[in-house]
Amino acid sequence: MAKLIDGKAISLAVKDEIKAKTEELAAKGISVTLAVILVGEDPASQVYVKNKKKACEYCGIRSLSYELPADTTEEKLLDLIKELNDRDDVNGILVQLPLPDGINEDRVLDEISPLKDVDGFHPVNVGKLSIGKKGYVSCTPAGVIQLLKRSGIEISGKECVVVGRSNIVGKPMAMLLLRENGTVTVTHSRTADLREVTKRADILVVAIGKPRFIDASYVKDGAVVIDVGIHRGEDGKLCGDVDFDSVEPVASAITPVPGGVGPMTIAMLMYNCLSSVCD
Ligand code: GUN
Repeated sequence: MAKLIDGKAISLAVKDEIKAKTEELAAKGISVTLAVILVGEDPASQVYVKNKKKACEYCGIRSLSYELPADTTEEKLLDLIKELNDRDDVNGILVQLPLPDGINEDRVLDEISPLKDVDGFHPVNVGKLSIGKKGYVSCTPAGVIQLLKRSGIEISGKECVVVGRSNIVGKPMAMLLLRENGTVTVTHSRTADLREVTKRADILVVAIGKPRFIDASYVKDGAVVIDVGIHRGEDGKLCGDVDFDSVEPVASAITPVPGGVGPMTIAMLMYNCLSSVCD
């Protein structure tokens, strides 16, 4: 029987800490503002943006909402970002991804000032993470580190295996585990014998975007398993990249889906917004 890592409870604890900080700041006349930009009508993005604004409200962070039509030109979006970069009353800027076809995502993300890049996607912040300098860290992998630490799971000296090498999760995850003195291996779709590698993991972080891909045959007895995936299964239920029913009996601790990593992403976004005025 694995211990369940409760992302909902841990994310609430993080948000309550942030709320207490923003109240302290408000008493000194300091406010925190996040500008959220959504282009188009992607239903999943609309839900994510709504949840981010709700979390801002909970944490005492002011949110400014920019909902632009799908036919918005790249130039217009870049102009809005420039305007927000220049505004002293805006601390963080978030452009919800994916962007509609015809808009160059890299150009847009590069335009956000690294000092306001609360998603941690700007090359300057990615570079800072890789050389151990302070900067904004991508929210999902930062949330995984918080889940581990707040569950009392030691990272230092552990064999950590990351499955997936995306810019948003896999790569920054590897950097963060390394920063915590883990021994880190990154695997991906071309890894020759994936099972042989994942079986070595004391801490296994799975972010490959394939529903229920990792079953017990990939997992060492007693491993900690963190599932970053979220999918709607054929049965209509939400599931992760990990086959929970198969893995739970062999793991020592595991994140559920939903209620594991997901809630931590938004909590860490709130943390990044707060640090835009505190650090
Ligand atoms: N789309 C899916 N995940 C994210 C995220 O973390 N940030 C942004 N901006 N867009 C996303």
